[in-house]
Amino acid sequence: MKRAAPLLPTLLAGCNGIQTMTGGQGLESQGFNGLFTVFNVVTGLFFLLVLAGLAAAILRRRGSRGDGMADERAVDPRDGALTKLLVGWVVLVGLGLALLTIFSWLGDRRAVAASADPLVDITVTARQWWWQVDYGGVQANQGFTTANEIHLPVGVPARITLRSNDVIHSFWIPNLAGKQDLIPGRQNDIIVTPTAVGRYRGQCAEYCGLQHAHMAFDVIVESREDFARWRMAQLAPPPAPDNPLRQAGYNYVTTRECASCHNINGTNASGRIGPDLTHVASRLTIGAGTYPMTRGHLYGWVADPQSAKPGNQMPVVGLDPNELHAVVAYLETLR
Ligand code: CUA
Repeated sequence: MKRAAPLLPTLLAGCNGIQTMTGGQGLESQGFNGLFTVFNVVTGLFFLLVLAGLAAAILRRRGSRGDGMADERAVDPRDGALTKLLVGWVVLVGLGLALLTIFSWLGDRRAVAASADPLVDITVTARQWWWQVDYGGVQANQGFTTANEIHLPVGVPARITLRSNDVIHSFWIPNLAGKQDLIPGRQNDIIVTPTAVGRYRGQCAEYCGLQHAHMAFDVIVESREDFARWRMAQLAPPPAPDNPLRQAGYNYVTTRECASCHNINGTNASGRIGPDLTHVASRLTIGAGTYPMTRGHLYGWVADPQSAKPGNQMPVVGLDPNELHAVVAYLETLR
């Protein structure tokens, strides 16, 4: 026991991670965790009762060894005690099933009540292998597009509409809610109500091709004030380049290959095939959770995206070193 003690924090830390079903940092996941506990207790109790019955039967048979009459007595339908035991067992099973049904129904009602008035409206479109994230606005010009990162205000229900552009994916933020599939040609949705500020990790939960494992996203749950600030920053156009190197990068990105796949608000880059880059440098990761957003990884990605994440849709453009420096210097200003 003493030797095992140092391992305890490690085990507990597994329940406090940024990607864990037992985190319970959302109303929906708390509901599931409650149901999971009830189901475990009820079914565990019945499992123990069945084992006890089995043990009693074995002990009874052993106790009667050598007595030929005892075995016949054990299955005698006129045995009143046995009949009572069986009736009691059937009633108990009925009660257990009723309990599970009632708790399931209550859990369902709770989820529906929480989703009655979603205040944040987001559409997530899955693509091989990244997430397009569109925030709707109350007014027409308040919507914006980002990628691989979802910000949510704490305590506010968000309705996330789920679509797919290619194959079936599955949207999953274990700390906050359950899974929901994104299916080409149809629209699903999921309600997420975060209850604790923090950074969490979402992950595609349906095998969708070569880079399925690298199809993750960051979820930032923040105070309403911080969320409003982030929203305003996302709506603003990025700053204009303010030195010759950045200007050269701007010229390259907005007029050459990059512009046909990527969008940057307020510039000529208006492609819709790859992730929106308007505020790419403000995100925490690059390549849908594949690498942290650092200068080194930005260089690596732009220079050779096929080594960074083999099979993804971004071709190797073949920039010379000067172009690469300029492009990265400009991308870093897109905050
Ligand atoms: Cu998308 Cu797996």
